[in-house]
Parts: sequence; C-alpha cells; structure tokens
Amino acid sequence: MVRAMEERKMHVGRVALCAVLAGMSGLGFSNIGVKDLTASPKGGDPVSGREIYVNTCIRCHGIDGKGALGIKLVPPPADLTSSAVQDRLDGTLFRRIHEGKPNTAMGAWKHSLSDEEIWDVLAYVRMLRAELDGQP
Ligand code: HEC
Repeated sequence: MVRAMEERKMHVGRVALCAVLAGMSGLGFSNIGVKDLTASPKGGDPVSGREIYVNTCIRCHGIDGKGALGIKLVPPPADLTSSAVQDRLDGTLFRRIHEGKPNTAMGAWKHSLSDEEIWDVLAYVRMLRAELDGQP
C-alpha cells in the first residue's frame, strides 16, 4: 500500500518533469519539486536568487540593479534594469553570468555558483525588470 503510494508520487514527479521539458512550464514558480532541473530558467527561485544577489552581485550592481554607489569601473557595471540587459534571452544572460565578460569586471561565476544558483539569481535579475516596468 505504502509502496503503491510511493510509486504514484514518483509518477507525478515524472509527469511534472516532462511538462517542463516540453517547455510548458507556464505555471511559473509553482513548479516546486523540479528545481533541480537546471535546463529551465523558469525553475529559478527568485527568493534564493535574491540572497545570492545580495551576497555576490550587489557590490557592483547595486541594490536596485542600476549600479552600486561610488563604484568606478571601466566599463561600468551593466544597468540590470535596462532593456539592453532585460531584452536578452535567458540563455544569453545565463552564459554571461556563467562565463563572465572578457576585459570587464564581470567575472565568471561558474566556479562559485552552481548552475541552479545561476538560474536562481537570474530569476531575481528578471524581477528587477518588474521594477522598471513600474516606473513612469
Ligand atoms: C566586480 C564587479 C561585478 C560583480 C561582483 C558582478 N558584476 Fe555583473 N557586470 C559587471 C560589469 C562591469 C558588467 C558590464 C560588462 C559590460 O560592459 O559589458 C556586468 C554585466 C552584467 C550583466 C549584463 C551582461 C550583458 O549581457 O551585457 C549581467 C546580467 C550581470 N552583470 C549579472 C551579474 C550577476 C547576476 C552577478 C552576481 C552573481 C554579477 N553580475 C556580479 C560587474 C560585476
């Protein structure tokens, strides 16, 4: 009996996984339980992403994504709220965070963040856009 229930749970898990793989993850963040599926940015958790952002990105990109106060870099940190950044595809931004940008202060985070953590922080970066939309 218990075993049958276990099997049923596994089956449900597999169905959810297939839905994501098929690109039908329009359910947004309700896909709890498939977070380990790093192939999908929709699985990124903006709450854990925010923590990563605060710990690692904020010192250059600032609390609102527009650049930290008093930071002097050439080139300056990208304005993460700008459409120049937000119009890029998830895959492009993932790669930028993963690999960094040569000859800029934007380093490769693949050594210190897992793929899942990069999707999480990207989910948070996407939320910075919502703030942009809210402005006149
Ligand atoms: C040491 C400073 C520094 C830190 C820390 C940093 N960045 Fe950056 N980032 C930069 C700079 C500088 C650029 C602009 C590069 C350029 O001019 O193209 C940039 C660019 C970007 C871009 C835009 C890339 C593009 O497509 O143009 C994204 C997205 C980004 N950073 C995300 C992050 C995230 C997420 C983190 C934390 C995991 C992070 N950055 C940490 C300095 C930093």
